[in-house]
Amino acid sequence: MDATLAPASTALRSLAARHLMTHFGPVSASGVPVYVRGEGCHVFDDEGRRHLDGLSMLFCVNVGHGRAELAEAAAAQARELAYATTWDAVHPPAVELAARIAGLAPGDLNRVFFTSGGSESVESALKLARVHHQLRGESRRVKVIARELAYHGTTAGALAATGLPSVRTPFEPLAPGGCHVAHTDEYRRPEGRDPLWAAAAIEERLQFEGAETVAAVILEPVQNSGGCLVPPDGYFARVREICDRHGVLMISDDTICSWGRLGTWFGGQRFDYVPDIITTAKGMTSAYVPMGAMIVADSVAEPFLAHGASFAHGLTFGGHPVGAAVALANLDVIEREDLLGHVRRHEDDLRDELEGLRDVPIVGDVRGAGFFWGIELVADPPTKRPFAPDVAAGVVGFLGPELQRRGLICRAADRGYPVIQLAPPLIAGPEEFAEIGRILRGALTAAAARLEG
Ligand SMILES: Cc1ncc(COP(=O)(O)O)c(C=O)c1O
Repeated sequence: MDATLAPASTALRSLAARHLMTHFGPVSASGVPVYVRGEGCHVFDDEGRRHLDGLSMLFCVNVGHGRAELAEAAAAQARELAYATTWDAVHPPAVELAARIAGLAPGDLNRVFFTSGGSESVESALKLARVHHQLRGESRRVKVIARELAYHGTTAGALAATGLPSVRTPFEPLAPGGCHVAHTDEYRRPEGRDPLWAAAAIEERLQFEGAETVAAVILEPVQNSGGCLVPPDGYFARVREICDRHGVLMISDDTICSWGRLGTWFGGQRFDYVPDIITTAKGMTSAYVPMGAMIVADSVAEPFLAHGASFAHGLTFGGHPVGAAVALANLDVIEREDLLGHVRRHEDDLRDELEGLRDVPIVGDVRGAGFFWGIELVADPPTKRPFAPDVAAGVVGFLGPELQRRGLICRAADRGYPVIQLAPPLIAGPEEFAEIGRILRGALTAAAARLEG
């Protein structure tokens, strides 16, 4: 326990260590920062230290911290009608939000099923895809093709789609049906290789599995895990074409890549494709309250309407009135402040700032889109030689706490290769980017020096 802390903080930390289980971490929440307040692109900890939130906390506080307008929308709705279901009834905020989302989504994605978060959105999409095929007389279509390393959530179905061994293995045997193919690692694509080879891999897997057994392909617009893996030009057009030819639904998991993160409402608008289902959450309310959604094309809903069939799936908190009211207020802010335009106007500034770090001797690649960027670290940038696994773990083990100590919240992850990830609030601009660059330079230079020393 830190003796310099105020007694209230010390007590809070003791209680956390004893009672609060962290997610993806130790069962005892000890030694972790305690954030107590947020304002714009910054948060403050219990020692009064200011941290630049370079990750929108968890890719989700899109409009930034401390927006009274969103807090007031929640309070007003809780006073008016705190809770009603979207099971056998509806309420105004859910209806208004569904219609508004349908207006923002690409193509004919006009129907919205609300959830409490991203895993539930993915879970719902995988179940909906199966029933869609059943109703069309194709009940053997139960499998899902996803990409290696991709994170699609932790609930049983979503976990089957998740391609991260460290997250999957402890829970095997998993729900059956998850198949994995290569992701789009442009940095390591050998020269001369067909740029769309990773799309071709999806078709090969479909043929191997028997396309008549596959319900859906699920993929993120920019794959988070692995370090902001951006698709090559034409990738999504090819995947769309493959899915259509084999009667497979295309699910775009926009849990991160929506609500302005890529400078568009949804990933399909950034990369020019129309999926059959979009799954989303996080920035939908800028995380002021939990909420997610599955957005469904008319063509996917059609067999349900034709058969008068229900979707036998529901969640108590799906479409929660307070969540819906906050989501509407969040959309108001994004539109009024033109945050989509702001991201498009400034994404090159963020990229340039990060590209400026290439002289640090462990910076291998800088990649991303919108306000969603990754830096891959390597042992030898000219040859792209990766670190040995134990060294990679050591680099990430050093950088995580070091970046935090220097006041930057971002992600240092080891998914085979160490990557630093950044996803600042959509209100960030050159001043925050300069601060990000300065802190990263200090921490990365220190990491490189430790390796040399
Ligand atoms: C692409 C993607 N899908 C699904 C999820 C799961 O979302 P949640 O943690 O809200 O359940 C995440 C979470 O980070 C995600 O990034």
